[in-house]
Amino acid sequence: MIEAITRQSLEQKDKPKLSMKRSYRHSQWYTEPGRVKDTFQGYLKEIDGRVLDAGCSTGETTIELSNIYPNSHIYGVDNNPELIGLANENLDSRPNRDSLKVSFHHGDFYRLKDILPSNKFGVAFAMNNWLFASLRLSDEENGFIARQFNYVLSEGGLLFLSKDNKSHLMRKEGHFKAIFRKSGLGFEEVHVDRELSYENGCDRIIDICNSLN
Ligand SMILES: C[S@@+](CC[C@H](N)C(=O)[O-])C[C@H]1O[C@@H](n2cnc3c(N)ncnc32)[C@H](O)[C@@H]1O
Repeated sequence: MIEAITRQSLEQKDKPKLSMKRSYRHSQWYTEPGRVKDTFQGYLKEIDGRVLDAGCSTGETTIELSNIYPNSHIYGVDNNPELIGLANENLDSRPNRDSLKVSFHHGDFYRLKDILPSNKFGVAFAMNNWLFASLRLSDEENGFIARQFNYVLSEGGLLFLSKDNKSHLMRKEGHFKAIFRKSGLGFEEVHVDRELSYENGCDRIIDICNSLN
């Protein structure tokens, strides 16, 4: 089932019509082309180094990031091994595959310190995963994750967070996005945008990132 739906997404056909049960599963790893620019246009400045796409699903956003940051190596990480397999297939199917500096890694972004201990990233993205998961995690657990991202960023590096419900089941919820700059053991807020203001869960993450030091 995953493969069939993913093929549709890769071919950019109309959104699949799914039952509630299947849609719920689909929503766990749903992704789409063009998401990075749609969400963060205006804040995507070229860097020369490493870019992290945490929770990369089938690699759509990771491959888009490689076009946005052509001088960087893009690391896609996902804790679902099946999706890492599909991400590699997705990459290999691109006509310009040889020029794409992309690699996919199976791992949990709650454990970035362990899975990427010696890599420092100029930019890290966590799109449509941590902000959703954060709603059922304690402040302590969310603080732990924030520190993982802080650890793998180089000084001054940027953390991009988003919760994008423009498409799919949760269209009515609107989107939320935030950008932080690593400063020592904490973060400085660069930009926060709430399309709708009810997102208390996301506000908790913003508070946690702002008070990490
Ligand atoms: C809804 S998809 C979003 C994909 C992509 N980031 C985007 O915005 O289009 C969420 C992805 O995050 C992954 N994910 C969730 N929790 C994770 C974790 N703790 N570590 C690594 N990946 C995770 C899921 O497996 C899924 O592929």
